[in-house]
This record gives sequence, C-alpha cells and structure tokens, in this order.
Amino acid sequence: MARIAVYPGSFDPLTNGHVDIIMRGASLFDRIIVAVLTNAEKTPLFSVDERLAIIRETFADAPNVEADQFSGLLIDYAREKQACAIVRGLRAVSDFEYEMQMALMNRHLQPAVETVFMMPAEQYIYVSSRLIKEVVALGGDVTGLVPAGVQARLTDKKRTRK
Ligand code: PNS
Repeated sequence: MARIAVYPGSFDPLTNGHVDIIMRGASLFDRIIVAVLTNAEKTPLFSVDERLAIIRETFADAPNVEADQFSGLLIDYAREKQACAIVRGLRAVSDFEYEMQMALMNRHLQPAVETVFMMPAEQYIYVSSRLIKEVVALGGDVTGLVPAGVQARLTDKKRTRK
C-alpha cells in the first residue's frame, strides 16, 4: 500500500524552506500532499488558488508531490486521504512547543497518524512566510529565499498595491 504523507500549512507564500521540507518528504513517502489550509488568516496576501498554483508550478517535475486545500480538522483530512503521516518542518527551539502540542493533540484524536518532523537545510532556518512578506513590503530583497514564481508574484503585488 502506498505510504502517503500530508504536509499542511498556510503557505502564504511558499518559501524555499517549505520547498526543502517537501523534497525531503517526497524522498521518504510514496506521495506527499501539500495541503493548504483555507481558513487560516482572514486577510492572506495570496488567495488559496494562487497558493495552489505556486505549489503546482514549483513541483511540476515531482510526480509524487500534489497540492490540495483543506478546511476543518487536519487529522480528519489526513484520514480522508489515507495518510500515515503528517509532515512538519522544525526550524528552531521556538517552533518546538507549538509543534509538540499540535502533534500530541493530533495523536490524541487519531493515534494511527504519526507526525514526522524534519529540519530544513541550514540556509533556510530563519526563513518564514511572515518575514518574507514583511521584508518585501519594506523594499528588501528575498532572492534565493522563495521560488522564482513567488518572487515574481510578490513584486507584482507590490507594484499593483502602490
Ligand atoms: O504552518 P502553519 O501555517 O503554522 O500551519 C498550521 C496548521 C495548518 C498545521 C494548523 O493550523 C492546522 O492543523 N490547522 C487545521 C485545524 C486543526 O486541525 N486544528 C487542530 C490542530 S491540533
């Protein structure tokens, strides 16, 4: 039976830290579903459709990486997809407490689904979607920290919002 993992998040926007974790997950599992939470933030920068399009174009050459959206409980979505694991990236100690709470709550709700943590490459340890948006809004350069398609869209959004 295929081993399926779900990698959930807001991905507003996808960063190279996310890309790194997805590639690691794709090498461990038969399929990895990058699942965009649809009701996370009330005012996201990118629509869910834009975020899905970015994921699909970034992983166009990776046949076992899929993009999807979900709402409601993550663990219900993971069960519906017959996933054996939830993948999460861990960057620093500051991520740990929140991630541990989520992993243990998800285990309480559904013991059959394991949470698997992976560390991104060191050069992405400090990268977050929130900081990327802030730096771009204030005129900083995020080259090398996000996929090219994200960078182009960020520049477009900045131009049209001026
Ligand atoms: O990377 P993010 O944006 O912090 O992702 C957070 C996410 C989507 C993993 C988390 O908010 C989530 O799982 N939301 C779905 C609702 C849910 O299941 N809540 C209970 C978590 S134990």
